[in-house]
Amino acid sequence: MDKRISSITLGESNTIKEAMERINKTGLRIVIITNESKKLLGVVTDGDIRRALLTGKNFQTLLKEIITTSPIKAVEGAPAMDLLKIMAEKNIQEIPIVDKNGVLVDIVLLSEIKSIPLSSPDITSKDVEAINQVLSTSFLSIGPKVKEFEKKIANYIGVKYAVAVNSGTSGLHLCVRSLDIKDGDEVITAPFSFIASANCMLFERAKPVFVDIDEKTLCIDVNKIEEKITEKTKAIMPVHIFGHSCEMDKIMEIAKKHNLAVIEDACEAIGGEYKGKKVGSFGDASVFAFYPNKQITTAEGGMIVTDNEKIAKLCQSMRNQGRDDNNEWLSHMRLGYNYRMSELSAALGVAQMDRIDEILGKRQKIAEYYNEQLKKINGVEIPYASLDVKMSWFVYTIKLDSKRFSRENRNQAIEDLRKRGIACKAYFPPIHLEPFYVDMFDYKKGSFPVTESVSDLTIALPFYNNLPEKEIDYICDSLKDIMESLND
Ligand SMILES: Cc1ncc(COP(=O)(O)O)c(C=O)c1O
Repeated sequence: MDKRISSITLGESNTIKEAMERINKTGLRIVIITNESKKLLGVVTDGDIRRALLTGKNFQTLLKEIITTSPIKAVEGAPAMDLLKIMAEKNIQEIPIVDKNGVLVDIVLLSEIKSIPLSSPDITSKDVEAINQVLSTSFLSIGPKVKEFEKKIANYIGVKYAVAVNSGTSGLHLCVRSLDIKDGDEVITAPFSFIASANCMLFERAKPVFVDIDEKTLCIDVNKIEEKITEKTKAIMPVHIFGHSCEMDKIMEIAKKHNLAVIEDACEAIGGEYKGKKVGSFGDASVFAFYPNKQITTAEGGMIVTDNEKIAKLCQSMRNQGRDDNNEWLSHMRLGYNYRMSELSAALGVAQMDRIDEILGKRQKIAEYYNEQLKKINGVEIPYASLDVKMSWFVYTIKLDSKRFSRENRNQAIEDLRKRGIACKAYFPPIHLEPFYVDMFDYKKGSFPVTESVSDLTIALPFYNNLPEKEIDYICDSLKDIMESLND
């Protein structure tokens, strides 16, 4: 018998202690019990052991006293789809496989037959080559690749300046600082985002003032912005959520009327457009991010873009410990940080930018394929894209119908998808309900009802450049089954 099976197989005369040792060693949740001819007799699960000990059995109790006979099993050659279905229905992650004589021949683990990640970076041999080339030079930081990457992004977005940094969060922070937003100032943004959008104001003791989102676009509701403007308001930070542009003409109009700066959080939206113009080219400054789940990646990284020379110069200085261009290494003009992007990251960024159109095209196709499949499922709403925008698909997020489903239903759907080996996430939890925001600002449930209701019902499904259609079929078929059971 193969080593793996023997490591999880015991006999009826072994003890609870021996079973616990096996479970501890293998990390599985069962041991399989066979007779001398290796015929499957049953299984003992970690739950069986727990219950046995709670009801007075002890470490020396023999497994024959607690065995589950006639366990769930499958015969050699059973299709993976059937096994997955059984695992999901019975809430198990391991199935013993027997031959036609009932002899144990294998064990199938859920993680082995299906594991679709939520995201996956798309790194080609050219990308690797680009990184290796940098490694063979003496410039691993502060070298030509960062400049090349900056130039590429500036040209692509159609702005004068681009400043590479080591994350989207540091980019946002530098924008806040370079616009002199400080203690007591207010910046208007949306509570439905990744937390860094609002945290970058807190870094400077400024206050993120939230405005609820539009139910369809999931971006800031432009009709609710003006009512939140006070004499302390310094800026608006629209977040192009999931790669869908905010209504930039209205936002720019409001900003102009009230003399406010605009920082676009375009971390999720590189290549997206609003009325034919690239996101990131509207505001005083904008930021893209390149974490591995993003459209293009530099492993960690971000990019500030702007047409404003003063902002660009300040950001260049502050990302590099407050040095100015012509400063000595140990001469610092202002408070700064180490927010520099490495040459390795920049080289990867350049290589990824060389095929950005191809990447965005692939993502568009995957989103369209999902849309086609999911349209047919009762109770599932596919992502909305306004006619004014060109999406740059960051994630693919569905929403359950609010008239029929609750947060609990959504959580159940997520759990059921995961049981079928499909990674998925509730995307995003509202920022204002994060515990430290509640502590700081006394937000309560109900403060931003649209954000909260959307947050309760959304599910981000697996989404990445090379997600095969057959995996999308599997995800959609699984979701259909799950929705039918929720509908019952
Ligand atoms: C909307 C938004 N803002 C900011 C960030 C922060 O970017 P990073 O993770 O690179 O710091 C992210 C990252 O996911 C984001 O989605």
